[in-house]
Amino acid sequence: MARFKVTCLALVAMTLVYSTTLCVAHPVGFNFGWGWGSPGGNGGHGGNSGNGGGGYPGLFPEYYQFSCPQANDIVMSVLHKAIANNPRVAASLLRLHFHDCFVQGCDASVLLDDSATISSEKNSGPNKNSLRGFEVIDEIKAKLEEACPQTVSCADILALSARGSTVLSGGPNWVLPLGRRDSTTASLTGSNRNIPAPNSSLPTLLNFFQRQGLDEVDLVTLSGGHTIGVARCVTFKQRLYNQNGNNQPDSTLERSYYFGLKSVCPSSGGDNNISPLDFSSPARFDNTYFKLILLGKGLLTSDQVLLTGNVGKTLELVKSFSDDEGLFFQHFAKSMVKMGNIRPLTGLKGQVRKNCRRVN
Ligand code: HEM
Ligand SMILES: *[C@@H]1O[C@H](CO)[C@@H](O)[C@H](O)[C@H]1NC(C)=O
Repeated sequence: MARFKVTCLALVAMTLVYSTTLCVAHPVGFNFGWGWGSPGGNGGHGGNSGNGGGGYPGLFPEYYQFSCPQANDIVMSVLHKAIANNPRVAASLLRLHFHDCFVQGCDASVLLDDSATISSEKNSGPNKNSLRGFEVIDEIKAKLEEACPQTVSCADILALSARGSTVLSGGPNWVLPLGRRDSTTASLTGSNRNIPAPNSSLPTLLNFFQRQGLDEVDLVTLSGGHTIGVARCVTFKQRLYNQNGNNQPDSTLERSYYFGLKSVCPSSGGDNNISPLDFSSPARFDNTYFKLILLGKGLLTSDQVLLTGNVGKTLELVKSFSDDEGLFFQHFAKSMVKMGNIRPLTGLKGQVRKNCRRVN
């Protein structure tokens, strides 16, 4: 009995880099070498993706089991307080992990402040006056440095915070591979180039995700992160007043929703006014985001084109997720692990920052 358990855990540790599938679901006797099956993982997507195609141990869920067993508890206690105080914190932290991973991998490059050697990603078009939650990350880091000095990386804090924020908002939990290390560099140009704009077409969105080793299922699934949080008028105003350069609104916007949005976002000024991405339950992680898209009530162009963009099977996925919240949750867990595996620094690469805002 005990022996089975240990074996099972070991399998989980070794396989979860690629998959969230439970250990009992794995066929016995699979190949332990590099390049074994990675259903739904990053394998096979080419050089820029995943954890580099193998050749090093990569990430595993028990990474801090001995060095800082209380790591996740510390993260969760800070999150619990911060989110109870302001539910939007959950959304902001989920987004931070996304904006970290899409720029030179999940290496906490997004957290570095401007300095003599760093051009901070915080000043990029997609991030400036937009990314939030840095103080919460600072608080988590300070508590972790107290408990386990120079042990838990800022990149792992972002991944743990994204998961914890999802769970505390009512969403799915997942087994999270850990062991990312922190970059000593940031890429302002990478941030400007790799994070898709909210007025992107569906082919553009697919292209940006494919560059990270993520497919159309990941795109639709991870866009479901917009079930929580808000967006500023400046990110969707084009849809209200001049979607196609003809001074007309986006025809895919449902009428009453359109009028509501216009009352929040005047044609001039008000760029920093905000509207929920999922107005029916903006603090609840659920599948209403997809239900709203079906009703023509997606907030961003990038949300609505998942239904109307007419490429691939994104329309079918939106329908499936709006019908079946459990299916969405399963996919979200899996795609978050996949996104979290984008080009991490491991082994001797990078460092574990003492302060997430600067290199050691
Ligand atoms: C598919 C391409 C995506 C585009 C074009 C996009 C775009 C945006 C924009 C424009 C905002 C509002 C920013 C502002 O008003 O300052 C936003 C907010 C948000 N995004 Fe995305 N996003 C995308 C994918 C994702 C993904 C993959 C996630 C996470 C899994 C995510 C999570 C969030 C969250 C939670 C918010 C709300 C943040 C808050 O309230 O502070 N987004 N997104
Ligand atoms: C998207 O928005 C940007 C910034 O407002 C603008 O320059 C660009 O032309 C827009 N793209 C499309 C396809 O409308």
